[in-house]
Amino acid sequence: MRNVRHFVTVTALVLLVTYLTYIGLTSLGLMPVAASAQAGPIDWLFDLHVIMMSFLFSLITVIMVYSLVVFRRKPGETGDGAHIEGNTKLEIFWTIVPLVVVIWFGIIGADNLRQVRAVDPNALEVRVIGFQWSWRFEYPEGFSSNTLYLPANKQVLLKMESIDVLHSFWVPEFRIKQDLVPGRVTELRITPTLEGEYQVLCAEICGTSHAYMVSPVVVVSQVAYETWVTGQLAAYEAELLASAGQPDATRGEKLYTELGCKACHSLDGAAGVGPSWKGLFGQENHPLADGSVVALVDEEYLQESIIAPNNKIALGFNANAMPSFSYLRDAQVADLVEFIKTLK
Ligand code: CUA
Repeated sequence: MRNVRHFVTVTALVLLVTYLTYIGLTSLGLMPVAASAQAGPIDWLFDLHVIMMSFLFSLITVIMVYSLVVFRRKPGETGDGAHIEGNTKLEIFWTIVPLVVVIWFGIIGADNLRQVRAVDPNALEVRVIGFQWSWRFEYPEGFSSNTLYLPANKQVLLKMESIDVLHSFWVPEFRIKQDLVPGRVTELRITPTLEGEYQVLCAEICGTSHAYMVSPVVVVSQVAYETWVTGQLAAYEAELLASAGQPDATRGEKLYTELGCKACHSLDGAAGVGPSWKGLFGQENHPLADGSVVALVDEEYLQESIIAPNNKIALGFNANAMPSFSYLRDAQVADLVEFIKTLK
């Protein structure tokens, strides 16, 4: 009879402490607002884990504290406690129950993954370029942006590439996360559900400015999105038209920032991952890593170095340190060269 009373008391205490622990943990508000369809299944699974954690924490601490308090040695007790050895039924019970629970979590985890990766054939496709240390988003209409604009309630398929090292695309409000791997295209599907402004963070340590690899994400209504696309497209077409003429140093300077050149090439003469652009153009007998020299740093040499950086490596720098920018339009390369020419 005494045993039944202990059992009932401990069960009640375990349930109470489980409840209090769960309430305590969830009231910390560690999760930001959920802003995507994918966040639903993830948060549900996360919540289930928090309940499980609260229960296991309570199960261990309640039984331990209860034993310490209730079964402590009373004054005058000098003998040994009862000698208890093994309990087959208990061992079978506490093997089977966790096994079933873990398998069950495996099954719902797989189903969760299926929901999160569900494919919408009409998804909007955006190309994501990650580089040290920023993001660029290329839209199907041809223009690119440093802000990720997305229409609400429409799935977006992000096709992600890195031009240098590993990065990881992560918008905490969308919950899901995906690595960018050099030489590979990785995919992530997101259906934003809540209009607002968020940030994409880089969740993979990628160098000294990793913590600053942040870009804005703006989720707007379908109508506002279409207006934005029209505006971007008009600016892009105007730029195309303008760049059909003479190369332009101002546009080159803009590209220097947008493409991430500035991460490796200084404008003040200081050597970075790559040579400084200051005083580069017009240099004579420019030394290369293989011992030879380039007689004159001219437009042709600069173009080649942008498109095929490993052909001629400047003395003091490493091969493969710079990715190829062969995807740029000729006019863009010309603009960059024009900008370098102004850096005397
Ligand atoms: Cu990119 Cu960290």
